[in-house]
Amino acid sequence: MENILEVKNLSISFETFFGEVEAVRDISFSIGQKETVAIVGESGCGKSVTANSIMRLLPMPPAFFKGGEIIFKGENLLKRTDKEMEEIRSSKIGMVFQDPMTSLNPTMKIGKQIVEGIKKHQGLSREEARKKAIEMLNLVAVPQPEKRINQYPHEFSGGMRQRVMIALAMVSNPELLIADEPTTALDVTVQAQILELMKDIQEKKNMSIILITHDLGIVADMSDRVIVMYAGQIMEEGLTSEIFKNPKHPYTRKLLDSVPRLDMNRDENLHSIEGTPPDLYIPPKGCSFYDRCDMALKICKEHLPGFDDHTDSHRSRCWLNHPMAKSRERGEEK
Ligand SMILES: Nc1ncnc2c1ncn2[C@@H]1O[C@H](COP(=O)(O)OP(=O)(O)OP(=O)(O)O)[C@@H](O)[C@H]1O
Ligand SMILES: [Mg+2]
Repeated sequence: MENILEVKNLSISFETFFGEVEAVRDISFSIGQKETVAIVGESGCGKSVTANSIMRLLPMPPAFFKGGEIIFKGENLLKRTDKEMEEIRSSKIGMVFQDPMTSLNPTMKIGKQIVEGIKKHQGLSREEARKKAIEMLNLVAVPQPEKRINQYPHEFSGGMRQRVMIALAMVSNPELLIADEPTTALDVTVQAQILELMKDIQEKKNMSIILITHDLGIVADMSDRVIVMYAGQIMEEGLTSEIFKNPKHPYTRKLLDSVPRLDMNRDENLHSIEGTPPDLYIPPKGCSFYDRCDMALKICKEHLPGFDDHTDSHRSRCWLNHPMAKSRERGEEK
């Protein structure tokens, strides 16, 4: 199966008043056709910067690409002009943002926004575009679409706005959908409906999805594979079952430990991960997780571990993977 997207050795920094922030550091991953890949990790680890870089939506400056490639269907997006990117954004890659109000125009009726999206790229007549807009709202299960197309965004509830956003992202039949916390602002029932909807549309349109979320329950439900990011790097990557059943990186284990489970006693505490991620102005030389890792060895502080393959699909970067590391008392060297 050919990959729809291949990110190779991508590094992105921000130039700030205090110096360079190395937000994304040498990450590589790929997305297969019709695959759903979740990107997880604590706040600030670089998930949105990665997502926005694929869409080439980072403000430059302060952001700049330090290196790497983003290959979408065989083409390096970093070599496309702004105009070409606009075309790709409106036809091949769709994005759902965390906050729908930032990408809906508050001064324009919903129907018009969708119609504009359609007309620009499919050369339809006004009436055809109107029909299509209604069809899109139907697809995302907005009730009474004929009436709703004449309303403004503020007349929609949060959940309905999110649906409209998905309709907008979907209107051009994208081959790849990037959803950055698509349901965080919504209550659980609406959340489930919207995710179900995304799956449905994926099924109908054969779309690939990159899903960014803090909710590991959603990850377990929705994704085929998981990428775990920490401090701008990928720490572990694998099939969803591999990550949940056999996490290899101490950071991944802590992330999983911090999630409530049904089999937990009510008085059992959730383990939030102690400490904070490192400063990305001067990223650590060795493993970024060193300061917060209970099992760190001396080498972890000085040398960045490379990736080890556990299976064809599962890899992680941790010195404890090394067979010689097992003979040591964990933690003793720290
Ligand atoms: N405009 C900017 N200027 C400077 N630094 C930035 C800018 N935007 C993002 N960063 C930095 O890049 C890093 C990654 O940010 P990013 O928004 O990708 O995190 P995230 O994983 O999406 O977090 P969250 O889960 O909170 O959404 C952070 O350290 C952040 O401070
Ligand atoms: Mg984010």
